[in-house]
Amino acid sequence: MPAGHILALDQGTTSTRAILFRAPDLVPVAVAQQEFQQHYPASGWVEHEAEDLWETSLAVMREAMAKAGLGPQDIAGIGIANQRETTLVWDRRSGRPIHRAIVWQDRRTAAACAALREAGHAEAVAAATGLLIDPYFSATKVTWLLDNVAGAREAADRGELAFGTVDSFLLWRLTGGRVHATDATNAARTMLFDIRVGAWCPSMCALHRVPMSMLPEVRDCAAEFGTTDVLGGAIPVRGIAGDQQAATVGQACFRPGMLKSTYGTGCFALLNTGDAPVASRHRLLTTIAYQLAGKRTYALEGAIFVAGAAVQWLRDGLGLIKDAAESGALAAAADPAQRCYLVPAFVGLGVPHWDAEARGAIHGLTRATGPADFARAALESVGYQTRDLLAAMQADLGAGEGAVLRVDGGMVASDWTMQFLADILGAPVDRPVVRETTALGAAYLAGLQAGLCPGPEQFAAAWQLDRRFTPAMPAAERDAAYAGWQRSVRRTLSGVV
Ligand code: G3P
Repeated sequence: MPAGHILALDQGTTSTRAILFRAPDLVPVAVAQQEFQQHYPASGWVEHEAEDLWETSLAVMREAMAKAGLGPQDIAGIGIANQRETTLVWDRRSGRPIHRAIVWQDRRTAAACAALREAGHAEAVAAATGLLIDPYFSATKVTWLLDNVAGAREAADRGELAFGTVDSFLLWRLTGGRVHATDATNAARTMLFDIRVGAWCPSMCALHRVPMSMLPEVRDCAAEFGTTDVLGGAIPVRGIAGDQQAATVGQACFRPGMLKSTYGTGCFALLNTGDAPVASRHRLLTTIAYQLAGKRTYALEGAIFVAGAAVQWLRDGLGLIKDAAESGALAAAADPAQRCYLVPAFVGLGVPHWDAEARGAIHGLTRATGPADFARAALESVGYQTRDLLAAMQADLGAGEGAVLRVDGGMVASDWTMQFLADILGAPVDRPVVRETTALGAAYLAGLQAGLCPGPEQFAAAWQLDRRFTPAMPAAERDAAYAGWQRSVRRTLSGVV
């Protein structure tokens, strides 16, 4: 294999990272990261300034290159992984967005989604897109923008506006407006894409009143996406995937039955189901895991909206810790005789409840409850929610029983959290040596396209275990703790309060 470097850009919900990898073995040589501001204009609304997404992307790519002492001639390709579903609409002539990005967590279209469900569209939506009707996905966010930004609908009808998820917007900017494209995994999260056919779905676009002229062209995850000149010389963009799908690739979950869970802002578990989409009977999502050489591989996905965000809340909302890394030690100091449950429904609940109106709650408070119990409840909520997801997968496929969960993302650095996860799942949890699997997956896709990286089988063989966490909690304790969680969730659902 020829040598070279790949630049991975991971544009996430709360921060943007760039990692330069040396090919073909994809060893990270430089990392740069910037956080950016979150905007909460109303209860349940979450927005990002599009220029923040662009400027932090540019800054971290430049910083990583400078740290590694590499120039554009050393980089064979850029791979982009991105927060999915987050919706941008911009003017094709100026490249200027007509509004801030509406973030995947944003619930402003909850009523519109309820109306679509009541009108009986759920089955058609699930059949075409694999998704449930929920504000999470892009379609109702686009509709909201067209209906609420002055002049937007008319401009869209005249073909003057472009829609894109974050990958598509960044690609547009990187290529100076020459390329309006996305990849199949990002398209699969819009609720406008037919995941079986692999094309935009005219009836879904009609249902959501989204003109098809706004939509980007959909390509493979490893493809030629155009060339950027913004980093001091020409560099081709050669890989794009939604961040959770990029992590699935980075974890080398290439065989049906393989399962990964990523703990970032939210938690997303993807189970590879092979070349046929599996319809869920337990409110999971059917999605595209990756598309290579025109061939789609599908996954069942469980999505929970708050994982690392609960730790951020301990830090920024409650001021209980100064650094996210302190949360495990604080949780370990909690009184084992007490059990508090935090249901972190800050932006509603995802799988399996899909309750956009639910809001967070903490149960089991006593006079003895203190900061350590809050930290423990926050970290444990991530384990309980993962169990909810895996239970739905098992119920759908009868599979996953005894399956090993490959984990990644910022939270997996906490041994305490990973041990609790294994304990509450009653199943082993594998943490890889390379935890930056999202960036790794994006780099692999670009490296594959560049001819620098080997095929999936060989890449999978290089996956390395850092540590396996095996369950140590007695079954009776596990069952009692999980039953308590389920009771707390029931009391938190919006129909109840
Ligand atoms: O679907 C939303 C997801 O892509 C966000 O990922 O890593 O920013 O939590 P993350």
